[in-house]
Amino acid sequence: MSARLEHKVAIVTGAASGFGRATAIRFARERARVVVVDLDEQRGSETIEEVCAAGSTGRLVVGDVSALDVARRVVGEAVEQFGGVDVLVNNAGIAQDDARDTWDAAEDTWDQLLRVNLRSVYACSRAAIPVMLAAGTGAIVNVASIAASVCTGGAAYAAAKGAIVSYTRHVAREVASRGVRVNCVSPGFMRTPMTTGERLGLDEAQQEERMLAFGQRVPMHRTGSIDDVADAILFLASEEAGYITGQELIVDGGYVVR
Ligand code: NAI
Repeated sequence: MSARLEHKVAIVTGAASGFGRATAIRFARERARVVVVDLDEQRGSETIEEVCAAGSTGRLVVGDVSALDVARRVVGEAVEQFGGVDVLVNNAGIAQDDARDTWDAAEDTWDQLLRVNLRSVYACSRAAIPVMLAAGTGAIVNVASIAASVCTGGAAYAAAKGAIVSYTRHVAREVASRGVRVNCVSPGFMRTPMTTGERLGLDEAQQEERMLAFGQRVPMHRTGSIDDVADAILFLASEEAGYITGQELIVDGGYVVR
């Protein structure tokens, strides 16, 4: 079987860590050339090294993907270096803290969560879609969350993720006749630095305890891996999903239907 993204050019936002990095590497194994975008230059460079180690090539753009000028710079880099944009993965995002009453979040917190998690999807899509329409082909995969469907993650985070699902459907409908597909993946409780608690200062034993507790809430009795999400993103980005658009693929071990 030939590589699933042979001759394709992909942009992956938030690819210095977690799902984004796993997706960039997974894409590289399928021969895509990858533009990695992140705020974190050091870890973004490490992703590029892994993309090259996987047998492909990539470029790093450092910047905030919620800004339209950055989004346009990213698309410009893909076109200039690799000749186009076939796949856009809008993955960059930030978590809301676990405070109980998240409706009471400060205005800055609300604005930041909506800007990074939602505006970034709009900005990168707005920059990339004209290139895809001109080529008559393209696939966008947005990373939402089960927070769009069930109460987890905080009110502002859930509002942003729910909006991604609606935005996905709407844009998919608008561009369907012109060769561009738009879908989203909604991960459940997955093991990444966003969920383990390492950023909250938990030691390794506490992180394991936290992940075990998450896993016990899942019908499959485990948390998911970054590769579970990368595989779903790859499917929606590839020709195998050529007749699928406007959909939300939930990757959660059955949590939403429990
Ligand atoms: P992560 O924290 O490991 O990686 C996110 C990356 O995005 C980081 O490298 C960060 O520097 C980058 N980033 C953040 N803001 C940015 C900005 N404004 N511009 C450019 N880069 C930026 O996160 P993880 O867990 O891999 O999450 C990725 C996506 O998946 C997020 O959208 C998150 O909301 C979503 N998600 C995560 C779940 C989980 O269990 N970890 C569950 C459901 C959804």
